[in-house]
Amino acid sequence: MYTDTVRCLGDTTIPLLGIDIGTGGSRALLLSEDGRVLHAATAEHAGFRSPQAAWAEQDPADWWRAAQAAIRQVLKVSGVGGDQIAALGLSGQMHGTVVLDERGTVLRPAIIWCDQRGEVEAGELERTLGASRLLELTSNPALTNFTLVKLLWLKNHEPETWRRIRHLLLPKDYVRYCLSGEYAIDVAEASGTLLLDVAHRRWSAPMIAAAGLDAKVLPALFESPEVCARVSAEAAALTGLKAGTPIVAGAGDQAAGAVGMGISRPGAVSATIGTSGVVFAATARPTLDPHGRLHTFCHAIPDRWHVMGVTQAAGLSLRWWRELLGGDYDQLTAAAATAPPGAEGVLWAPYLMGERTPHCDPNVRAGLVGLAAHHTRAHVARAVLEGVAFSLRDTFTIFAELGVPVERVRAGGGGARSELWRQIQADVYGHAIETVAAEEGAALGAALLAGVGAGVWRDVDAACDAAVHTAATVACRPEVARHMDARYSAYRRLYPALRELTLNQSNHAPPGPGDLGPRAAVQSAPI
Ligand code: XUL
Repeated sequence: MYTDTVRCLGDTTIPLLGIDIGTGGSRALLLSEDGRVLHAATAEHAGFRSPQAAWAEQDPADWWRAAQAAIRQVLKVSGVGGDQIAALGLSGQMHGTVVLDERGTVLRPAIIWCDQRGEVEAGELERTLGASRLLELTSNPALTNFTLVKLLWLKNHEPETWRRIRHLLLPKDYVRYCLSGEYAIDVAEASGTLLLDVAHRRWSAPMIAAAGLDAKVLPALFESPEVCARVSAEAAALTGLKAGTPIVAGAGDQAAGAVGMGISRPGAVSATIGTSGVVFAATARPTLDPHGRLHTFCHAIPDRWHVMGVTQAAGLSLRWWRELLGGDYDQLTAAAATAPPGAEGVLWAPYLMGERTPHCDPNVRAGLVGLAAHHTRAHVARAVLEGVAFSLRDTFTIFAELGVPVERVRAGGGGARSELWRQIQADVYGHAIETVAAEEGAALGAALLAGVGAGVWRDVDAACDAAVHTAATVACRPEVARHMDARYSAYRRLYPALRELTLNQSNHAPPGPGDLGPRAAVQSAPI
């Protein structure tokens, strides 16, 4: 099934192709050399299997099928010939584990980013190496989402598969392998494996040794705009592309999406609300959070890094409440707009899927509190939108603590399409919120990286300046912002209470004083 975006082709001569291997589907986007989005097509995936609670698996062959379909479709609707494409870039869902044997045959379904089965392995890694050594080696804590944790689960539970692993790839890198036969990855994507020395942008020998891995299993490392492969004759026949077309390394969806939103220089920050929510800041150096609440990754730009905080259930909160309350998104947000800022005391803690930032707690559960008999569905809907914004504000709070500069904030994802949610974000973050003209995220970022690799733009900053433009700005209202500050203080008191409830339910030991989460690194964290 396809969804198409069709714009005018004009007399463009050098189209660039960006391909995003998402969770729900694969998207192919054509960009002109003057930075205009020409066409895009998406082919859906079969969805993911969850054979046990909190597991998530996909079949890599399905990504490749969908990528071929999206590429063929975008070439067909645009009338652009495969031989006109100057270069292509890849982006995709991060952290997934694709394991292959010596012949390049996939050994088992991929364990994807949201899979939480590795809690024991993450804990073991942190205990054996020590949280501070882990942070020193990789700039990050051991999260269940990260690739190495999933590999260690395979080692413990599927030793026969583990023994046969000769190559490790991530989702978009598997599609590159299908396109070119090359085993390659970029440093931005590799940052989310827990096997990269993020500060030095190279594989971490101590982490590889600690995992008991053979270093030859890992793909070759590149900077995101570097050409690292070319389309093979076989893939050309399947996709309509020309054999020999250069493929740049690309980046995971967060770094590529940030490029697509022009978040390239320090001071630029994005707040993206999709199923999950991400606040992302570009930095000149690796900024370490000693409490491990943020992800510190290489950016898709040489010699630049980024920090980001992740809310597990951002758009998902609204979807969940829409299913419960009925109606569509427009009706729900229209109702929310009739309730006053602060929802007359109703608060939503969006922990439907546990939480990553700042609590690193897969077990905490959501809560709606402060209800009185006079409250209506409008108050609940407004509280949900505000609760998600409060959760994203936690990341801004940590940025302030670590001295990460925040000069401009751009909103993306579904959250940017609602005028009310943009205003709520401006009032909760205390910053004006910009939206960009071409909201194409990761596929656009991948095409811009391809343009840099093909020499269309000097560097990623120049590519962003040429192609990413502000469409609208919503100002923060200082009086409302003061009220939202007070509500945010109340919101921050919810997590310790909800955490205690979860612990009591599962018969764990009650939290000690100051305990904000289950991990040592997080327990002493100030937020
Ligand atoms: C980033 C993350 C998600 C996935 C899925 O850390 O887990 O963005 O890449 O899109």
